[in-house]
Amino acid sequence: MKILVVGTGAREHVICQAVHQDAELYSYMSKQNPGIAKLSKEFHIGSEMELEAVKKQAISWGVDLAIIGPESPLEEGIVDSLQEAGIACVGPTQAAARIETDKAFMRKLFVDHHIGGSVAYGVFGDVEEAGNFIDEFDRELVVKPVGLTGGKGVKIVGEHLKDGKDAKKYVKEIINNKISGHASVVLEERLVGEEYTIQALVDGSHVMPMPAAQDHPHAYEGDQGPITGGMGSYSDTNGLLPFLDEKAYQDSVKIMEDTIKAVKKEVGPYQGVLYGQFMLCSDGPRLVEYNARFGDPEAMNVLPILKTSFVELCQRVVDGNLTKASFEPKATVCKYLVPTGYPESGKANSIIKVDEEKINKAGAMVYYAAVNQKNDQIFTSSSRALGLVAAGETIAEAEEICEKATAYVDGDLYHRRDVGTAELIQKRIKHMEDLLAS
Ligand code: GLY
Repeated sequence: MKILVVGTGAREHVICQAVHQDAELYSYMSKQNPGIAKLSKEFHIGSEMELEAVKKQAISWGVDLAIIGPESPLEEGIVDSLQEAGIACVGPTQAAARIETDKAFMRKLFVDHHIGGSVAYGVFGDVEEAGNFIDEFDRELVVKPVGLTGGKGVKIVGEHLKDGKDAKKYVKEIINNKISGHASVVLEERLVGEEYTIQALVDGSHVMPMPAAQDHPHAYEGDQGPITGGMGSYSDTNGLLPFLDEKAYQDSVKIMEDTIKAVKKEVGPYQGVLYGQFMLCSDGPRLVEYNARFGDPEAMNVLPILKTSFVELCQRVVDGNLTKASFEPKATVCKYLVPTGYPESGKANSIIKVDEEKINKAGAMVYYAAVNQKNDQIFTSSSRALGLVAAGETIAEAEEICEKATAYVDGDLYHRRDVGTAELIQKRIKHMEDLLAS
């Protein structure tokens, strides 16, 4: 079977590794990711946003199936385009991808279909009406552009925005400048709790959930500093998290199942990966947002421990007959190494040296992200450089292996040493206990 993977980063590298085990891999990426290049039978360097070019290349390779890594080509309609050429896709159509690309659509779906885990919110295209909502809203508030902003558009009043006045200014900027492509804004209740991710494969009707993971969006240790694409993540041996029990996990999956039923009714079947970002609040799980793709870094917590053939699962996604998959009962820890200055001004074009042999010998795996291979050298871009991942009998064991492996990467990079440490996990547990007790 010939499978095309579209995308350039660590998420796509781990997808490629899973595909490569059971199929011939072809890849389409915007920069030469050394990990993907090594695994691919053939690869093409070009923008994933040029849909006609991707389609032409896919046809010339004669691929049977395509897996779409990032969200932007999904928003552009890459799946619709490839399907027109008879290529089955793991990834939703442009209409179904609105679950991620249009937050107003997503929130309305919850209301119209009575899906649990929703929040109080309003959508506004009028600056004055939005201002009145801000004045009258009696809870803490989050301001979100409606469309994609690469994780940079969401601002919390009292944290990123000083007060209501500041919030109104930001709302005006979003509406007037069509930030994220929409002249409208979502204003919603701020959720308080612990965040976690559940990723699932979806075949249009069935949702096949994977182990939960927790990402670390802040740049610096102790959850300090600016928000990034994610500095690392961990998962536990039983598929749950130290602060997330079976009931909360199942309640979250139910929200995802109800969402998929609603999407089918509204815009047609959703086939691909669904990423649920949840907040465990004192009254249970609430949905923060959906992504229409694997998480980055969270894909690196689930795919390396998948025992069932990923290719078989992808085939089931497109055939509509997904059943269960099994995962090794291992904990995982992923730590991202990122260029100095990231996320504001990550140092680009500096050479990094990665001793893959020593990393593998230490028991860890390397997944390359936003780097570029030229001849035999690897250069940084301004974004995350590579993820190191380790699996273990406990989170502590995986963390220790992962941390040791960071010594075998040289370059102007930094990482969060605290991801997956006992101290940080204890902080998460205590936060949840305090919330439940209050
Ligand atoms: N971990 C954040 C994301 O994948 O969007």
